[in-house]
Amino acid sequence: MSGAPEIRFSHVCKDFPRPDGAGKFRAVDDVNLDIARGDLVALLGKTGCGKSTMFNMIAGLGEPTEGEVRVRGRDPFREFDSFRGQIAIVFQNDRLLPWRTALGNVELGLEMLGRPPAERRDNARVWLARLGLAGHENDYPHALSGGMRQRVSIARAFATDAGILLCDEPFSALDEMTAQKLREEFSTLVRENGKTAVFITHSISEALHLGDRVIVLRRPAQIALDTRVSRDASQCERDAIRARIEAILAE
Ligand SMILES: Nc1ncnc2c1ncn2[C@@H]1O[C@H](COP(=O)(O)OP(=O)(O)O)[C@@H](O)[C@H]1O
Ligand SMILES: [Mg+2]
Repeated sequence: MSGAPEIRFSHVCKDFPRPDGAGKFRAVDDVNLDIARGDLVALLGKTGCGKSTMFNMIAGLGEPTEGEVRVRGRDPFREFDSFRGQIAIVFQNDRLLPWRTALGNVELGLEMLGRPPAERRDNARVWLARLGLAGHENDYPHALSGGMRQRVSIARAFATDAGILLCDEPFSALDEMTAQKLREEFSTLVRENGKTAVFITHSISEALHLGDRVIVLRRPAQIALDTRVSRDASQCERDAIRARIEAILAE
C-alpha cells in the first residue's frame, strides 16, 4: 500500500510507576512499527508483555512516556476527539449494555456518531445479519451465548464504518470451536471491507490463522519477530514460522 502508514510507533517507550512506589518499570521499550492501510496485523506475546499497553496507545487511551504514536498522522491521545468514528474497538469482554437489545447495542456506536435513527436501525440490522444474528435483534445480552455476544460487539464495531479496528483478545474467553469460527468470519470481513486491523492475542495458532502479518513481542514489549504470513502459505511454511515463534516465546 502506498502513502503514510495508518499506524506508526517511533521509538515508543512506556513506563509505569511500580506498585510499591519505588520508581518505575518499563512496559514498552523502544518500539518502532509501521502498519499500512489494509493490513491485518496480529500482535502476539505472553501475558504481561505489554500488548494492551501498546493497544491503549493506539486507541488514544494512554500516552507514551517517550517517543511518538501516530494514527493517520495524528496523535491519538492528544487529538482523541478527532478520531471519532475512525477507530472501532473490540475487547475481550463484550462490554454490551445489559439493558439494551442486540440491535440497541449495535445502534449505540451510530447514535454516538449522530446518525439519524432510520439509518442506524437499518445499518445495525444489516451487520447483525452478517454476523449470523438475524432473528436475535430483540434479544438482550443475558439471553445470548458468549459467542453471540461477541458477535454483537463485532457487528457494533463494523457498523460504525471505522477504517481501523482494534481488537484486544476478543475471542480468548470463548471455547475453541466458537473462537475458530469467529476468527474466520472476522478476518473475511476485515478483508472484504478493506479495514486496517490490529488484533492482539497470546495464542500462536490464532495469530497464524488471522494475521497477514504476525508481530511477536518479548517482555517488556520489544519486537522480537515481524513476519508476513501469506494466506496461501503451505503447512510446512506455517510450521516453520510457528517453530520460530515458539522459540522466541520460550526465551
Ligand atoms: N496502568 C498500569 N499501571 C501500572 N502497571 C501497569 C498498568 N498497565 C499495565 N501495567 C503493567 O505493564 C505490564 C504490561 O501489561 P499489559 O500491557 O496489560 O500486558 P498484556 O496485555 O501483554 O498482558 C504488566 O506488567 C502490567 O502489570
Ligand atoms: Mg492484555
